[in-house]
Amino acid sequence: MEKKVVVCGGRPLKGRVRVSGAKNAALAILCGSILAGEKIIIENVPNISDVQHIIQVITYLGARPSWRREDLLSVAVPALEVREAPYELVKKLRASNLLLGPMLARCGEVRIPLPGGCNIGARPMDLHFKGLSALGAQLNLEKGCVWARARRLRGAQVYLDYPSVGATENIMMAACLAEGQTLIENAAKEPEVVDLANFLNGLGARIFGAGTDVIRIEGVKELARPVHYGVIPDRVEAGTFMVAAVATCGEVQIDGVIPRHIQPLTAKLREMGAQITEGEDTLYVQCRQELRPVNVKTMPYPGFPTDMQSQVMARLSAIPGTSVIVENIYENRFQVASELRRMGARIKVEGRVAIVEGVPRLFGAQVRAPDLRAGAALVIAGLMAEGETEISRAELIYRGYKDFEKKLAGLGANVISGADTEPVFAFGEKSDTNRRNIPTHRE
Ligand code: UD1
Repeated sequence: MEKKVVVCGGRPLKGRVRVSGAKNAALAILCGSILAGEKIIIENVPNISDVQHIIQVITYLGARPSWRREDLLSVAVPALEVREAPYELVKKLRASNLLLGPMLARCGEVRIPLPGGCNIGARPMDLHFKGLSALGAQLNLEKGCVWARARRLRGAQVYLDYPSVGATENIMMAACLAEGQTLIENAAKEPEVVDLANFLNGLGARIFGAGTDVIRIEGVKELARPVHYGVIPDRVEAGTFMVAAVATCGEVQIDGVIPRHIQPLTAKLREMGAQITEGEDTLYVQCRQELRPVNVKTMPYPGFPTDMQSQVMARLSAIPGTSVIVENIYENRFQVASELRRMGARIKVEGRVAIVEGVPRLFGAQVRAPDLRAGAALVIAGLMAEGETEISRAELIYRGYKDFEKKLAGLGANVISGADTEPVFAFGEKSDTNRRNIPTHRE
């Protein structure tokens, strides 16, 4: 069902917020749990819709995950009889492609429909296929499905043309049970790749060098150690609260983070003029002065994360002066620009470059979330805007943020959500501010 979020802007965020476990790490680890020979416990798992969907997929394949408490899952994998995941389940999230590697390693065969996910670009899988083929898998594409088979996987040297997160994770998982040694060169260095490697090593895998651009995996016969593993904190959720704090000139302490993972954003926000203090596992964000425009280029980790680009664009749209954003990861990740324009922003998009001419303020409007992070960006824009912003397709936000509006409300924001199709009026007066009269200029 289509959900809406209504935001009344103008209040500085104040207080403390704790981030949940990392969506992208949890998804990869849940796919990797298919390899486990013993019952395992995974902690700090965010109960968000993407996680619920991947749980449905692995359950369909034969795994037995069950929630023990809010963020604690146990997973047992008694036997995997089923080799094919149904399109209806898989289409809901792209991360289901991360089952290719572990299913191949565990069962020698899998058939997965090409997955769905956010509408942010073509997102091919050639690098996944190249790596798995190098390990000895046969891959066929037929009727929108990938059919992968391997009687035996053998370690190999794989050079990735681009450090793809998903391809690195898939190859790493397949290589765990391959015969001999695998080298992944130009591997992705994202913290979520390291988290997956640590989890697999806990199960008994022999993975070395995760977090660098060469990962070495020595294949083992089985991964049969019982494990109790904690997922890392979500750096994108933490980053989203940092930008929200800066956007509202607030004062927010973010707890339960790994500051190092968010360094590229911290540096950018400091360049804008925000004050950020790093503790061991906290970040204190304050914004007392006029902010400056900045230029942003998204890059693979440790570069500026593409998953924070939309939120930062929302903030920059109301900083007078010119900011330039270059999106190097996805070719279709500026869709939020046309929604921000409905709120009064002046953003020109030319291919992979967005030129943001900051305006003095944004105005509330009816907007539509084009994808998960863009949805969060629109909430941030709503928090900065004068009047009320109504964001439709807000269910996309719940793919990635646990208790988003609850956590924001805890910081003093006026945010409410519902499944309504009728307009909802948040606290205070019924506003007609720009509800239907904003000139629309779609890209
Ligand atoms: C992961 C994250 C996503 C994040 C992205 C980049 C998960 C579940 N999702 O996505 O939130 O935005 O990393 O940090 O972890 N590509 C190819 N061929 C391939 C694979 C990728 O051309 O075989 C391209 C993609 O189209 C994209 C770029 O490489 O343009 C990055 O993709 P990749 O690093 O693989 O991202 P995902 O693992 O899909």
